Amino acid sequence: MIVEIEALTKVYEGKQRVVAVDGIDLEVKEGEIFGLLGPNGAGKTTTIGVATTRTLPTSGKVRINGIDVVDQPARARRSIGVVPQFNTLDRSLTIFENLYYHCRYFGFSHAQARDRSDQLLAQFLLTERRKAFPAQLSGGLAQRVQIARAIAHRPTVLFLDEPSAGLDPQSRLAMWTAVQSLRKDGITVLLTTHYMEEADALSDRVAIVDHGRLLALGSPQKLKDTFGAQTIIQLTLRQTDQLAALAAELATRSGVQNIETLDDGLRLFTTGAEGLLPDLIQSAARLGLRDIAINEPSLETVFIHLTGRDLRE
Ligand SMILES: Nc1ncnc2c1ncn2[C@@H]1O[C@H](COP(=O)(O)OP(=O)(O)O)[C@@H](O)[C@H]1O
Ligand SMILES: [Mg+2]
Repeated sequence: MIVEIEALTKVYEGKQRVVAVDGIDLEVKEGEIFGLLGPNGAGKTTTIGVATTRTLPTSGKVRINGIDVVDQPARARRSIGVVPQFNTLDRSLTIFENLYYHCRYFGFSHAQARDRSDQLLAQFLLTERRKAFPAQLSGGLAQRVQIARAIAHRPTVLFLDEPSAGLDPQSRLAMWTAVQSLRKDGITVLLTTHYMEEADALSDRVAIVDHGRLLALGSPQKLKDTFGAQTIIQLTLRQTDQLAALAAELATRSGVQNIETLDDGLRLFTTGAEGLLPDLIQSAARLGLRDIAINEPSLETVFIHLTGRDLRE
């Protein structure tokens, strides 16, 4: 295992005591792209912070390539590349120099650092911008430079914290391609995201986290099969006095597995029952159907199933 996280907890003691990570266990296998998916405040950055030696754990262990990150941080850092959530490129250096000095910092000779930097510029399609300064780059290009720099010293595992935060859709796709291309270099990737599409598209396995706890772990397909093989239909109604009666009535329809009563409507968990929708709409119309939302099985529906909340809430 490249990354081993064992019973990790992190409590921030301050005016308010915050349990940011509350007993997380997980392992990342060699060569995989692993996604840590959860809403803001779930503890993703803190988990990555401990794994990358930036944050001290309250208890528990993290090992990278078998090296304990608390006991031997400098050694662990040689195996680690990090792309933090916010741009940390050196604004006073060109793109080439950002890569070059990173290599030098990790012990490369002048010639080695120069060659590696040139090779990375080519690999990430940045050669034309080698003399540009970070401030002159778009968010997407800056993100690519950050990834190039993070892998410059040939780490075995790359940590990406919210890699698409703030990127436009096109840059996001380019970033996904860049991350996927790391596979052929044999680099293991652990990324965090609160975008379920991103976790789904990129990850071999996903861990869903919330309030510092791991709720589920598996391939996106397995998670959907296990928890979310249901289409969630949400009815928003004008009149809410007879919700219970409507729920009881709809519960008898074939294909409806479970119903949750919300403040202003009902949430139905259904299995692809054909012809169900017209029937639901007709029944709901009596209570003034205001809106209907249909969620096909996705990591979003898995999250709703596990927490009763939307990832975006
Ligand atoms: N340095 C800190 N001091 C105090 N509380 C913190 C600190 N960093 C994070 N937290 C709190 O810990 C929790 C988890 O935060 P974080 O790990 O950043 O989650 P995520 O990356 O999933 O959004 C949040 O409640 C956050 O407010
Ligand atoms: Mg974060």
